[in-house]
Amino acid sequence: MLAFLSSFAGAGWTRGHFRSGTARSRAVCAPRRSLRMQDDGGSSQKFDAAPERRLSDALRERDVEARKDREAAEARERARLEEKRMRQKKIEQLQAIPDDTPAGSIDDYMYQEGVSNILEQLDRDLVGLKPVKQRVREIAALLVVDKLRGKLGLSASLPSLHMCFTGSPGTGKTTVAMRMGQILKAMGYCRSGHLVVATRDDLVGQYVGHTAPKTKEVIKKAMGGVLLIDEAYYLYNASNDRDYGAESIEILLHIMEHNREDLVVVLAGYEDRMNKFFSYIPGMKSRIGNHIDFPDYGLEELVAISEVMARDMEYNMKPETVEAFRAYIGKRMTMPYFSNARTVRNAINRARMRSAIRIFNRAMDPSADGMVSRDELMMLEPEDVPTVQELEERGETAIVE
Ligand SMILES: Nc1ncnc2c1ncn2[C@@H]1O[C@H](COP(=O)(O)OP(=O)(O)OP(=O)(O)O)[C@@H](O)[C@H]1O
Ligand SMILES: [Mg+2]
Repeated sequence: MLAFLSSFAGAGWTRGHFRSGTARSRAVCAPRRSLRMQDDGGSSQKFDAAPERRLSDALRERDVEARKDREAAEARERARLEEKRMRQKKIEQLQAIPDDTPAGSIDDYMYQEGVSNILEQLDRDLVGLKPVKQRVREIAALLVVDKLRGKLGLSASLPSLHMCFTGSPGTGKTTVAMRMGQILKAMGYCRSGHLVVATRDDLVGQYVGHTAPKTKEVIKKAMGGVLLIDEAYYLYNASNDRDYGAESIEILLHIMEHNREDLVVVLAGYEDRMNKFFSYIPGMKSRIGNHIDFPDYGLEELVAISEVMARDMEYNMKPETVEAFRAYIGKRMTMPYFSNARTVRNAINRARMRSAIRIFNRAMDPSADGMVSRDELMMLEPEDVPTVQELEERGETAIVE
């Protein structure tokens, strides 16, 4: 029964504006802060304008809420009808395709999209890794078949492409993730296929409020490609449930679920630690569609890798140089901090450095004419490779690159 007071009450208006007004209009004309008006019983009550304005605000908000609810219900109904229409369209499309229509040739897709090129290159550049290459082929095959199914109007909902790469350091995880990105791009499953490598330090902050922006920044960089998280288990600290890593995991889980078409996440690290990590965060495990294990290389594979690396850098190795490498790697494998192919790369780089010093010293010798031949520039000699004796002199526990 008390009249509402308009929020513009008292803004410099005089009684003269509403000469023959009602209680409501009088109230409108009344001074803003302290209003006196009669209720039905004739008793006088004091009102404050502020609570009355809040009441009108509340009513306005309720109207807005009601409108939002109505709009949401309408949007849901539209989405339901659209889904029904699409389902009907798909049924009609499928019925229109004769049963004997060929889906197309797998080779067409593999060649047209350049996938077979990438797979061949993977075969050529990476020594060994048979099970890994097989898994990469299987994933590529799944993508091709999925495309062919899509062409016939069959359901082609993509399974999760997030992956877990387990293995020791230097076994080729990052290299394969990079190739995987290229395959996904060639098949049209991501926009650019580039690789972003991140560790805990890139994702987790030191203070409250730091972690979310850091993680989001890395995700932003990786969008449209592959995000490889090295030693992903360091994101979770079992002994501290207030560790900021949990916030980063939360964001990653969300992105892995909702941006599957635009970002492939690869978690990399040692298998035992990764399994432990999954046991703490089962949601992470359930979002990973592919697990690839990278075995340690054998001695002969490592020697072959040294030859491939030398070839890629346009160096030649004499048979004696290959022998020297075999002896070096055999010894190095038994020592601490051995990192498979990465140790081989370091050894090759050291051999290149020694060859440079050897060539320089020879050319600068007063008896020489200073000329250097192409052969000389390309050849790695056995003496360029560190010897087992040199390694032994440094001690069994020495930190060797
Ligand atoms: N099978 C292989 N054939 C030739 N080169 C290889 C092979 N595997 C790895 N390499 C080379 O070894 C180096 C280390 O490989 P990569 O960085 O991919 O290993 P990783 O498993 O990611 O190591 P980490 O766990 O330490 O990150 C790279 O230079 C890579 O090109
Ligand atoms: Mg790596």
